Amino acid sequence: MVATSATARDGWSSRTAFVLAAIGSAVGLGNLVRFPAEAGANGGGAFVLFYILCIVLIGLPVLLCETLIGRHGQAAAPESYRKLAVESGASRAWELVASLGVFSAFLVLSFYCVLGGWVLYYIGTFAADLAATGVTGPAFDGVPYEEVEALFPAMIGNGMVTSLLDLLFLGITLVFVARGVSGGIEKVAVYLMPTFFVLLLGITVYGFFGGAMQETFAYLFTFEPEKLTPEVMLAAVGQAFFSLSLGVAGMVTYGAYVGRDVNLAGTSVVIAGADTAVALIAGLCIFPIVFAAGLAPNGGLGLMFQTLPHAFQEIPFGSLIGLAFFVMVAFAALTSSVALMEVPTAWVIDRFNLRRGAAAVLVTFGAAFLGVLSALSTGALADFHPLGFIPLFEGMGTLDALDGLTSKLTMPICALLTSVFVGWIADRRLVDSENGLSGGVHLFWRFLVRFACPLALVAIMVFGLMG
Ligand code: PHE
Repeated sequence: MVATSATARDGWSSRTAFVLAAIGSAVGLGNLVRFPAEAGANGGGAFVLFYILCIVLIGLPVLLCETLIGRHGQAAAPESYRKLAVESGASRAWELVASLGVFSAFLVLSFYCVLGGWVLYYIGTFAADLAATGVTGPAFDGVPYEEVEALFPAMIGNGMVTSLLDLLFLGITLVFVARGVSGGIEKVAVYLMPTFFVLLLGITVYGFFGGAMQETFAYLFTFEPEKLTPEVMLAAVGQAFFSLSLGVAGMVTYGAYVGRDVNLAGTSVVIAGADTAVALIAGLCIFPIVFAAGLAPNGGLGLMFQTLPHAFQEIPFGSLIGLAFFVMVAFAALTSSVALMEVPTAWVIDRFNLRRGAAAVLVTFGAAFLGVLSALSTGALADFHPLGFIPLFEGMGTLDALDGLTSKLTMPICALLTSVFVGWIADRRLVDSENGLSGGVHLFWRFLVRFACPLALVAIMVFGLMG
């Protein structure tokens, strides 16, 4: 089976390409849509600061665990876990940790593409506006802001639109995954991520002058200890994993394409740094508009979609810039959805000896089925609560339930078991030969992986889930 993998997988063309692809996987709707939504829903500062702490003390060490397992294994995630386990004299059952991750990746893929579809809708809306009002004018010229804001609820309530756009986004993802790593994913990542970063920064700087910046800083960065409840902590850990693409075997899968010359520890720092920077900038970009426009910060997943058009309404070339922005968001989402689809696809390739194209199509069909359920859950199927029998997910539609199930349960469990595996089970020599660490940093990382991460995750999950 290893031979199959070797023929089915090709490597990254350079270290830079790997770094950019991993950043591409990490940076996406998690940063732009989910981070502001979670920060707002969980009261701002306490969530944000705890989130940053989670990135540094839990996310970063686990990221290194995942990439080192992948590079050592050079195969789809379960096989990589199994290889390291067997070589360390441990049970091959550790591969089940990866299987849990693969399953989570599949679930996340299914609802992620629904959000990707929303972005496509806004691309269409801005394109139509551009055609109607011309290049130089602001977006939605003369249209009252409430009407622009109302586009979002109208869109998510229309199941036909959200389902078709979900399938379109899934289809685009399929095309890239079917073409393979260096042909597909890399090209998107290498060219578009840097451009996107510059545009996002530009809009944020604009917000510094126009919006409620002071209020935003106070909201996002004031630490109020009483707001740090176990639920908020669990939400922050979940967001950290979601944003860094951890706990879904994704970084294990990508790590399998990395050459031995790459320093995994240094690379992990770059990936986590870039991802966190984009999330914080997205917050600094969106919340000034929230406050300036008098919107509620806990507006949920619609926050980005309802605030940014407001900025584009006020500036010359607004339609054009708005269109460019949402096109870039779509690409950022695509580099993430490609990573999400790559995980189960690599698994199907290795497991059933299928060709890449056929494997990707199989995964797509499954994700399409669940995706349409999610797409309809903000409208016609709002009263269908698939996980309603679990108290934590009571009253949640498919989209919210799958999001909660993965970010609050399966991803943290997968990450927890991964750190136990690397810290306690895997042969220390094998781990040390991969991790690229030395001296005090190495000891600190071992301490985090063996003690701090597992204990913190158990505690946060137990208390967070008990509510
Ligand atoms: N990290 C991605 C984002 O923030 C989502 C993702 C999760 C991608 C897991 C791959 C794996 O949008």
